[in-house]
Amino acid sequence: MYNLAMKNIFLPLLFCFALITGGYAGDAKNAVTKAAAAPAGAPLYKNPLLPPEKRARDLLSRMTLEEKFGQLQQLDGDADGPFRKEHLELARAGQLGSTLNVRFAKYVNPLQEEAVKNSRLGIPILFAFDVIHGFRTIFPMPLGEAAQWDPPMAEKAASVAAAEAYAAGLKWTFAPMMDIARDPRWGRIAEGAGEDTYLGSALAAARVRGFQGADYGAPGKVMACAKHWVGYGAAEGGRDYNSTDISEPSLLNTYYPPFKAAVDAGVATFMSAFNSLNGVPTSANGNTLTKVLRGDWKFSGFVVSDYTAVQELINHGLAADGSDAAVKALSAGVDMEMVSTLYRDKGPAALAAGKITRKTLDASVLRVLEAKFRAGVFEHPYIDPKLEETAFLTPESRELERAAALESLVLLKNDGGLLPLNPAAGKIAVIGALAGSKLDMMGSWSGDGRADDQVTLLEAVKETAAPGTAVTFSAGCPVKTGGTDEEMDAAVAAAAGADYIIAAAGESADMSGEAASRASISLPGRQLELLARLKKTGKPVVIVLFNGRPLDLSGLDADFPAILEAWYPGTEGARAVAQVLFGKGNPGGKLPVTFPRSVGQIPTYYNHRSPGRPADPANRYTSKYQDLTVEPLYPFGYGLSYSSFSLSGLSVSPAKIMPDGSVKARVTVENVSAIAGDEVVQLYIRDVAGSETRPVRELKGFKRVTLAPGEKRTLEFELRPAELGYYYAGGFAVEPGLFKVYAATSSAGGLEASFEVTAK
Ligand code: NOJ
Repeated sequence: MYNLAMKNIFLPLLFCFALITGGYAGDAKNAVTKAAAAPAGAPLYKNPLLPPEKRARDLLSRMTLEEKFGQLQQLDGDADGPFRKEHLELARAGQLGSTLNVRFAKYVNPLQEEAVKNSRLGIPILFAFDVIHGFRTIFPMPLGEAAQWDPPMAEKAASVAAAEAYAAGLKWTFAPMMDIARDPRWGRIAEGAGEDTYLGSALAAARVRGFQGADYGAPGKVMACAKHWVGYGAAEGGRDYNSTDISEPSLLNTYYPPFKAAVDAGVATFMSAFNSLNGVPTSANGNTLTKVLRGDWKFSGFVVSDYTAVQELINHGLAADGSDAAVKALSAGVDMEMVSTLYRDKGPAALAAGKITRKTLDASVLRVLEAKFRAGVFEHPYIDPKLEETAFLTPESRELERAAALESLVLLKNDGGLLPLNPAAGKIAVIGALAGSKLDMMGSWSGDGRADDQVTLLEAVKETAAPGTAVTFSAGCPVKTGGTDEEMDAAVAAAAGADYIIAAAGESADMSGEAASRASISLPGRQLELLARLKKTGKPVVIVLFNGRPLDLSGLDADFPAILEAWYPGTEGARAVAQVLFGKGNPGGKLPVTFPRSVGQIPTYYNHRSPGRPADPANRYTSKYQDLTVEPLYPFGYGLSYSSFSLSGLSVSPAKIMPDGSVKARVTVENVSAIAGDEVVQLYIRDVAGSETRPVRELKGFKRVTLAPGEKRTLEFELRPAELGYYYAGGFAVEPGLFKVYAATSSAGGLEASFEVTAK
């Protein structure tokens, strides 16, 4: 319902970009025309009318060895945007292929000028940055975005992020991150789409489309980067950067597909990961980087290593020294080296010694050059500084962000219809440090977001509550550690005098994301103690969670009537939370990841295989724990609404198909309540018996629909070979046999039907 409002908001921005000159205050305005009219004899690569491959080959033929290795080098700038002194020199020498973190016209343009005007061949630099869920307008963190189950919304958010990043002189983002993650201890679970391959693939493609549009060379668009290739999310013990061991069937069916979806969506680049995969580090893994990516999938963009991942091949124990690391990474298919400088420093000697072939080197350089031609940076190397005045944080992007945040909220519990709060509430106590925090609303990877631009939950509650409502605030205790008894007492005293308590709880933003793994997934610090004391006041307590991972909420679920999962909702997100608290918005998000009952259940994910002895409480000798059920607290796909919905009439036809056929599943969803709302209808299959065992359920379709009170809609899902088949030792196949189909509002329960695939 809420996403409809945002149509066409990009038009003013795009109009603005159409006016972009591409040069310092306009000097490159007619770059294309000028180049087209270049005198006969001008180098081919300068002619924008020629295809990028041809221009790249011509340029390559003119380059020295140092220039070639230099184009494969990416160096880091300073966190706030400045370049470093050595960058100027390297740019002048034509030996700086790309930077990360250098941004804004005042830094990008002078550095670019060194490369374009003062280097021998004038090859422009590619400016990159981690624009993960927004540049200046910060959107819900990616896991929260996945909770929307609305890829077009994710596409719009990426498109705004691209437009803002572009205005800061950037042409490349290190996103989307598409690592399937089943371990909440891993902090980077926050950065992806969660545990499911189908949802993750849909979002990977949508985000790529949002960043790149139909042509990433267009103004306002940036190159995307599929990361982290591959398996990074399966880090042993949930410890960031740790090794992974993933079976071939799991790689093919679970971990690869979002990356394949990104390739199909035209993603410009890939990033090789930090982890070793089955003993071979992914930044020197010829199988994944060359055989699969370039051979099987025909990916024609370039691959950048993750930050110093080439150097780290030595720590992995794969490379004996720097030269060996450079040789192994480049030969495996990593085209550009991020931050460590082994290609540049050791490459020429390795080439002379015959350890790297010229063919390998040239192929990598060509890929980088081609991407630069496609990105249009030869014709438009600079950014108009004036753009920064108008492009960031527009009223339209704020509005879109609020709508996106609203869609991302997941109502986990609402006993007795406590929510929405009675508008006539006279006094509301807002408790918890997170309710007063601007910084934490952004999440762990917030681009160029500024704390001052964010709205706090406290501010939003004050704005949204009925006029005359008294809103008090007390932090109670810090989020992570510490806090005094006096502070706790003050919070409890404030709460005791209120009609309702809104308690913000969770993790501070820096507790998830990179290098933020946790061994415990409980609420940190003294928050549980604070919540227990709030409960004792006898006042109704609504818990609003801000967190970057599934948390152990067992105690909260047992003790509190209402829990709203808000993730890190972004710049305007707290306003969306307040809308939901006061009934001005209706939550409709669904979990993109399972919430376990305890860290001891990890990994727990809905699409597991069935053991030979599935858990049976009545039978000791089955697959279970002595001290805890195997069922999660909240399953994948779960989320409540203020509306109630019913599903009926699931039908699948035809009843029998050949392996290359397809079936249609139809189901009717009805809003059986008096309030308009969103439901996400989810379609799962189970391939009952196969050459290899199949998951107990697999998501193969979903639709988020908005229904007016009493409204009914019949939805149709098509299940084609792509949805019905899987990769096994014999290749990809749809195997004959019985398939079950479930239409549901979460991965648990729902309606069931079936059909059969018959042998040819
Ligand atoms: C390391 C991270 O793993 C990666 O996701 C990021 O893009 C790079 N650093 C660059 O910041």
